[in-house]
Parts: sequence; C-alpha cells; structure tokens
Amino acid sequence: MIILGVESSCDETAVAIYDGDLNTGQGRIVAEQIASQIETHAKFGGVVPEVASREHLMALPPMVDALLSEAALSWSDIDQIAVTAGPGLLGALLVGASYARAAGMVNDIPVLPVHHMEGHLLAPGLSGDLPAFPFVTLLVSGGHTLLVLVKSIGQYEVIGQTLDDAAGECFDKSARLLGLPYPGGPEIASMAAGGDATRFKLPRPMLNRDNLDFSFSGLKTAVMYAVKNAGGLSAMSATDRRDMAACIESATCEVLVKKSIRACLKREAPRLVIAGGVAANSALRALLAELAAANGIEVHMPHPRHCTDNAAMIAYAAFRKIMQGVSPPEEWDATPRWSLSNLS
Ligand code: KG4
Ligand code: ZN
Repeated sequence: MIILGVESSCDETAVAIYDGDLNTGQGRIVAEQIASQIETHAKFGGVVPEVASREHLMALPPMVDALLSEAALSWSDIDQIAVTAGPGLLGALLVGASYARAAGMVNDIPVLPVHHMEGHLLAPGLSGDLPAFPFVTLLVSGGHTLLVLVKSIGQYEVIGQTLDDAAGECFDKSARLLGLPYPGGPEIASMAAGGDATRFKLPRPMLNRDNLDFSFSGLKTAVMYAVKNAGGLSAMSATDRRDMAACIESATCEVLVKKSIRACLKREAPRLVIAGGVAANSALRALLAELAAANGIEVHMPHPRHCTDNAAMIAYAAFRKIMQGVSPPEEWDATPRWSLSNLS
C-alpha cells in the first residue's frame, strides 16, 4: 500500500510517501521532504500562527508535486492519503486537511486523519524498531511533555504529563534568557558541549515526588535568577554561558530520563521509546541509554530526523492503523485540541 503523508500542524510543512506491506507489516519510506519555517518565525521569537498557515499554503502543493516526481509516482499510484488532523494550530492544520481532502476527492483516494502524537509515538517503526506492546513513550516536544503507556495501536494511556511548561518550551525560554535564537533546544545543546554541568545549581523539578508528572516553569525561573546572579547576560563570559547551557541541559535531561525509567518500572513495561523534537537531543539520548541499560530497560529511539515533526511518521501511523482494520471516518475535521486517550 502506497501512502502519501501530509503534516502541517505547526511550523514544518512535511510530505512523505511510505510503501508498506499490509500482510507482513514491513515497509519503507520511498521519499520525504520537509520545509522548515524556522527562519521566518525566528525573528518573532516563536511561531506566529497566521504566518505559519500562509507559509504552509504556499509550500504544500509544489512540495507534493516535487515529492511525486522524486518518487517517480503519479496520483494514480497513491492508495491512501494520511494527514495530521490535530492537535496543533487550527489554521495550519486546516491547510493540510483541506489539501488532503481536495486531493483525495479529485483523485478518488481515501483520506485518513491522523493524530500528530500518534505519529510521534509510532515513529520508531519507520526504521523497523517498534517494540513489543506494551511500551512506554516519553513524548517531548515544544508543546508537550507526556509519558504514554502504549498498549496497542490506538490504545494509549497518558500516565504522566507536565503541569505547566513543556520540556521544549523550557529549552526555548531558557535559550532566550541566554540570548540564543528560536528554537532554543538545538542552540542550548550546541552551546552546552564541553560545559561544566555542575557549576550552577539548578533544580530538578518534581524528581523526588512519587508520581510521573513534570513541571518545568520553575526551572526556567531558576535560570532567570542564575543569569541575574551572574551579573546579567552581558557580564557573562563565553565560558559562563557554556556552563549555564550545560546545567540547563543536564537538569532537563535528568528529570526526563529518571521519570521515564520510573514509568517503565511502575507499569512493568520494560521498553521505552522517546519521541518529539527534544528526543533529538544527544545528551538526553546518551543518559537514557546509560540509565535504561542499568535498569534492564530496552530503549528505542527514532532517527533524530524522525523525532522532530515529519510526514513519514504520519504515513506510518496510518499504515499501522489500516493494518489494524481502521477505515477513514465519514466525517472529520481539523481538531486543534485532541486527547490521545480518545483514539480507539
Ligand atoms: O516535535 P517538534 O519538532 O515540534 C513540536 O513542538 O511539535 O519539537 C520542537 C521542540 C522545540 O522546543 C525545540 O527547541 C526542541 O523540540 N528541540 C530540541 C532539540 N531539537 C529540537 N531540544 C533539545 N535538544 C535538541 N537537539
Ligand atoms: Zn511534534
């Protein structure tokens, strides 16, 4: 089955073609393209929803044409369209949803709406590395920090989440305090290289509470005071900034990893997936590999390219849902707020 995936929920316009065998569950990415709007939004310090919608509108149709020609396929070869229907920015979602619906109607191809987070949860499957059920996924992006118990395709139980800021948001806001551009996660990660992660004392929020929830707004505030105590950003040397970035990265990663391990142990699911943009962070991946091995937990990490937003994961999620017998609903809409727990 050849599936065209379309993703436009936030600030990346992404399209991909996945070719999967419904009998064996095996498949491969035939072609994929991503157009990032980061440069456009960077000057505003974050994503501007109206600008995002307009950029998707301009980028999407020519990207699909280019994708089909790269794959040497035509519309008549596409068996299924899969599109992110939510959660995300309403205007941005509407561009992808309207395009998918129109293309489906004109070319007589069924369209399956996909939950963006379900795409992230199943992303290890793109490299044939989806663990046995049940497994725990740590889903860490700019808007979400969730621990999800994945019982089977479509059966997701949120077992922990942030009570305030998401981990990516904490990286983005802390980066701004260090004078770094949006998105802050990769900026902090590259600035942190070789830094002293013990120099500034930053809190590990909620780490000692016996639950699976997170809180990152206090960490961001602690960074603000640490910068103030160091005499303000202008008084900080390159070494000071590097050490501060290392401390931010280390505090965030320690909480994320230790709570994820706790989730696996508590729910007796010794398999852990990480997903979402922050899962591209190499310090997080290294700490996770180390502590998971020490606790007898298998870790499954999608390629960093498939941790951040992409359309291959949307096409793959649709493939797995179709294998499961899910068929496209008669009625559906772009859904900016959509709980993962209501999918089955
Ligand atoms: O999943 P994603 O691409 O978009 C959504 O939010 O859905 O995640 C973007 C987030 C941003 O907050 C960005 O700063 C963070 O992921 N991020 C990183 C890294 N790459 C992206 N955070 C830490 N280290 C990275 N290498
Ligand atoms: Zn995402």
